[in-house]
Amino acid sequence: MTPEQDERAFRALTRKISDARGVLCEAYKEKCLRRRIAVRMRARGVHTFEDYARLLDGDAAEYDLLLDALTINVTKFFRNAETWRALAPYLAELWERRRGEVRVWSAGCASGEEPYTIAVALAETARRLDQEGRLGRARVDATDVDRTSLERTRAAAFPESAFSETPPDLVRRYFTAEAPRRPGPALQRLVRVLKHDLTSEPPPAPPYDLIVCRNVVIYFDRPMQERLFLAFAEALAPGGILLLGKVETLFGAVRERLVLEEPRERIYRRPA
Ligand SMILES: C[S@@+](CC[C@H](N)C(=O)[O-])C[C@H]1O[C@@H](n2cnc3c(N)ncnc32)[C@H](O)[C@@H]1O
Repeated sequence: MTPEQDERAFRALTRKISDARGVLCEAYKEKCLRRRIAVRMRARGVHTFEDYARLLDGDAAEYDLLLDALTINVTKFFRNAETWRALAPYLAELWERRRGEVRVWSAGCASGEEPYTIAVALAETARRLDQEGRLGRARVDATDVDRTSLERTRAAAFPESAFSETPPDLVRRYFTAEAPRRPGPALQRLVRVLKHDLTSEPPPAPPYDLIVCRNVVIYFDRPMQERLFLAFAEALAPGGILLLGKVETLFGAVRERLVLEEPRERIYRRPA
């Protein structure tokens, strides 16, 4: 097969997946996409994109397995603990300004560790300010495109390994003693789980005081990243905060709209 034929077959396959499942394959980096599709092809013992496309025609379950492979969902509580320490004063400021009614979006929440990290951070903010009674006013929208991730977020039962970066006193304060550990009811009430595709849908319920989107945009190509950054800037309330992943950087027109507050921790703010 010539490189042109291979390219054509690859394009036909990704178009087919996009049409069938509504996930915009073109939005993902091609290298990433190819690597993930290759994993599924190897698992099914097929060698060409055409054969894999035919296999998809006769096997709806393979679409699910492919989408699971495409949406890499590695995560943990307090991932990059120093980032969450840096975020604490911003959360306190948002809390005071909104009197506890802080609206947060965890975009690409994977199995729920990130939205529940935010819920713990909000509960800690309330506790430090002696305003625990207001915790019920806050809300964390946890969204992902991946069905299995959403089921896990809803189940909210986490293995011990998910807590390797979490300060032990926070584990004791907010989670059940036995693994799988579950967050207490006050935290569970804060988190609302929604299916949402970042490549094709507008933000679910703006305005947000804090948008956390970490280790998600790295899988998208630059035009999609730029579109998303603009959508985040639009969805933030004045004075609101955007938190990206440790290796993600804002670029393009949106740099005029958001101010870089903490370069190392990727904390940005929409000016009030
Ligand atoms: C590596 S995980 C990041 C999890 C978490 N934010 C963190 O930093 O620990 C990437 C997540 O992005 C989600 N994702 C990938 N494509 C997406 C899309 N088009 N819309 C919404 N979420 C998507 C995946 O399903 C996966 O759960």
